[in-house]
Amino acid sequence: MSAFWSAWVMFLVTLNLGITFFLFIWGQRVKIPVQPDGSTGHVWAHGVLRESVRRLPRWWVLMSASLFAAAFIYLVLFPGFGSHKGLLGWTSHAELARDVVANESTAGAILARYAAIPAGELAADPAATRIGKRLFIDNCSACHAPDARGNKRLGAPDLTDAHWRYGGDDDAVKTSILEGRSGLMPPLGAGLEEQGVLNLAHYVLSLSGAPHDAAMAAAGAPQFALCAACHGPNGKGNVQLGAPDLTDATWQYGGTLDAVVLSIMYGRHGVMPAWKDRLRETDVHLITAWLHSQSHGDGN
Ligand code: HEC
Ligand code: HEC
Repeated sequence: MSAFWSAWVMFLVTLNLGITFFLFIWGQRVKIPVQPDGSTGHVWAHGVLRESVRRLPRWWVLMSASLFAAAFIYLVLFPGFGSHKGLLGWTSHAELARDVVANESTAGAILARYAAIPAGELAADPAATRIGKRLFIDNCSACHAPDARGNKRLGAPDLTDAHWRYGGDDDAVKTSILEGRSGLMPPLGAGLEEQGVLNLAHYVLSLSGAPHDAAMAAAGAPQFALCAACHGPNGKGNVQLGAPDLTDATWQYGGTLDAVVLSIMYGRHGVMPAWKDRLRETDVHLITAWLHSQSHGDGN
C-alpha cells in the first residue's frame, strides 16, 4: 500500500470511529429541553404520538463502550489501520499457508493410501470415487459435462460408454489426461463435390446402421478409400491415430447427416488439454478410478 493510501485509510478509520465515538459521548450528555408533561414537545398523529426523553439503557452503554475498546485493540493487534501491520504479525497469506500444510498432512495420508491401490480396484470404493467425481466436476465438466457423458458440439467424447478413442484401460486413460490428446481429421470435401460428400456421408451412416439412403450409400462406398488410411478399410478406426471407429453407434461430433457432412467437409480437430502441470498424479489416479466405475458399470 502506498503512503498516500495508507494515510487515506488511517484518515477514514479515525474519522468514522471519531464521529461514532463523539455521538456516543454526546448522546449521553446532551441536555434536551423537556416540557412540563415530560415530553420533548414533538407530537405526531394529532397528539396521539408524543416524543419523550429516555436515558440510554445501561447495558447498551456498556456494550457500546466495550465494542469501541474491542475496535481499538483489534486495530493495535491486527492489520487494518493503514499500513500498520499489527503487533501479532498476522497475515492472510500465512494463515492460508498454515491451513494448506494442515490439510496436506491429513489429506496427504489418505491420498498416499489411495495411490497404492490400482484404479480398477479403487473404482469399487465409494469414498475414493466420490473424491474422483468431485475432481472431475471441478476440472473436466466444462467440456465433458458433469456426468462425463460428453458434449458433441465441443467434440468432447462421452467417457461413460465402452468406446475409447485412445484406449480404455486405466493406463491409457491416465495418459489421455496427463499428456492430453489431439485428433486431427483433415478437411476432405474439396475433391468430392457436394454430391460426393453426401453419398459418402450416407455410406458412413450405413456403417453403424444409422438411418441412411441405401442408393446414396452404395454410390459413396468406393470413395471410402480416401478414409481407409486412418479409419481402416471397414471403418473400424485406429487407436494409434486416434481415428474413431465409425461402425459403433457412439459419436464424438454427433451421428446426424449434418454432423457427418461437416466432419468430411471441414475436418475436425479435437484438443484435449494436458493436465500434468495442473493436477497431481493422485488426483488423476482418483479421476481415473471414478471414470472406470462409470464406463465399466460397476458401482456409483
Ligand atoms: C477444453 C475441453 C476439455 C477439457 C477441460 C477436458 N477435456 Fe478431455 N477431451 C476433450 C476433447 C475435445 C477430447 C477428444 C480429443 C480428440 O478429439 O482427440 C478429449 C478426450 C479425453 C479422453 C480420451 C477419450 C477416449 O475416448 O480415448 C479422456 C480420457 C479425457 N478427455 C478425460 C478428461 C479428463 C479426466 C478431464 C479433466 C481432468 C478432461 N478430459 C478435460 C476436451 C476436454
Ligand atoms: C488423416 C487421417 C484421417 C483421414 C484420412 C480421415 N479421417 Fe475422419 N477422423 C480422423 C480423426 C483423427 C478423427 C477424430 C477427430 C478429432 O479427434 O477431433 C476423425 C473423425 C471423423 C468423424 C467424426 C466421428 C464422430 O464420432 O463424430 C467422421 C464422421 C469421419 N472422421 C469421417 C471420415 C471420412 C468419411 C473420411 C474420408 C473422406 C475420413 N474421416 C478421413 C482421421 C482421419
